[in-house]
Amino acid sequence: MTNNILVTGGTGKTGRKIVKRLQQLGQNVRIGSRQARPAFDWQDPSGWKAALKGMDKVYISFQPDLAVPGALEAIERLITEARNSGIKKVALLSGKGEREAELCEQVVIHSGIDYTIIRASWFNQNFSESFFLDPIIAGHVALPKADAKVPYVDTGDIADVVVEALMDNRHNRQIYELTGPRLWTFPEVVNEIAEAAGRDIQFTPISLTDYVRMLEDAHVPADYIWLINYLFREVLGAEGNNVVTNDIEKVLGRKPKDFSDYVRETAATGVWNAIQQPAAASSQ
Ligand SMILES: NC(=O)c1ccc[n+]([C@@H]2O[C@H](COP(=O)([O-])OP(=O)(O)OC[C@H]3O[C@@H](n4cnc5c(N)ncnc54)[C@H](OP(=O)(O)O)[C@@H]3O)[C@@H](O)[C@H]2O)c1
Repeated sequence: MTNNILVTGGTGKTGRKIVKRLQQLGQNVRIGSRQARPAFDWQDPSGWKAALKGMDKVYISFQPDLAVPGALEAIERLITEARNSGIKKVALLSGKGEREAELCEQVVIHSGIDYTIIRASWFNQNFSESFFLDPIIAGHVALPKADAKVPYVDTGDIADVVVEALMDNRHNRQIYELTGPRLWTFPEVVNEIAEAAGRDIQFTPISLTDYVRMLEDAHVPADYIWLINYLFREVLGAEGNNVVTNDIEKVLGRKPKDFSDYVRETAATGVWNAIQQPAAASSQ
């Protein structure tokens, strides 16, 4: 059966893989993003109705994070619009260990629409497609919570679980917590990447206060600093977050990708050997 599926963030880290997999399954996919037509912008609800029109199912990946102020109201509004548009299924990407994100999950859970909640640990791809890439290229990574152990998860595995959830009703009313198979500290991650990329990359442990000051000095936008501060405090600090789950295996019947395999494959693309551009020299 062919479904019409709106994939918000459909050109992003998880979304673009979800779009590709759904298209390979013959599904009719609409990307929900500011560049797409019709445009979907989390800051502009006036366009949401057009983006939902004719759709059966929706993948929700909120920007920038379900924990930020205003996210709850946006999710409430989108879910109301989705119900009015006759959406039959929602898959929500959430953050493991983010209490504020769980309030947004509740909106979906009580919406009356079939749903699957996918709570992900921090992504492997944060080191190659997101905020940790620039310091790696610069050869000097300074981060707080150096001893925190994180079960990084691969966006390819998240995409596989989301597609499975969207295509199979057995995943309705389920909450999955996705992690990779092992726990990693920042110094261990940096060593692994340095070795695979053949680079000398220094790691310096710093306090969260100094890290925030560093981001301010680098003129990183205030709302972004708020989010980074929250994630380091709440997600890396939270009890029970340094736990490996087996939900990926439960859903997909296979093991999640190991972080070392992600590092080996990513090093081969050359992304960590890119020439440092002046704009990438920020120490965030
Ligand atoms: N990174 C992690 O470790 C982690 C862990 C757990 C959960 N999460 C959650 O993952 C979600 C992000 O997913 P992702 O990493 O797959 O996406 P991403 O790569 O951060 O997002 C990029 C996508 O979002 C679109 N986008 C950006 N700003 C937008 C806006 N204002 N309105 C509509 N679309 C917008 C972009 O397209 P346009 O530029 O065309 O708009 C693009 O398609 C967040 O909710 C985050 O909390 C992340």
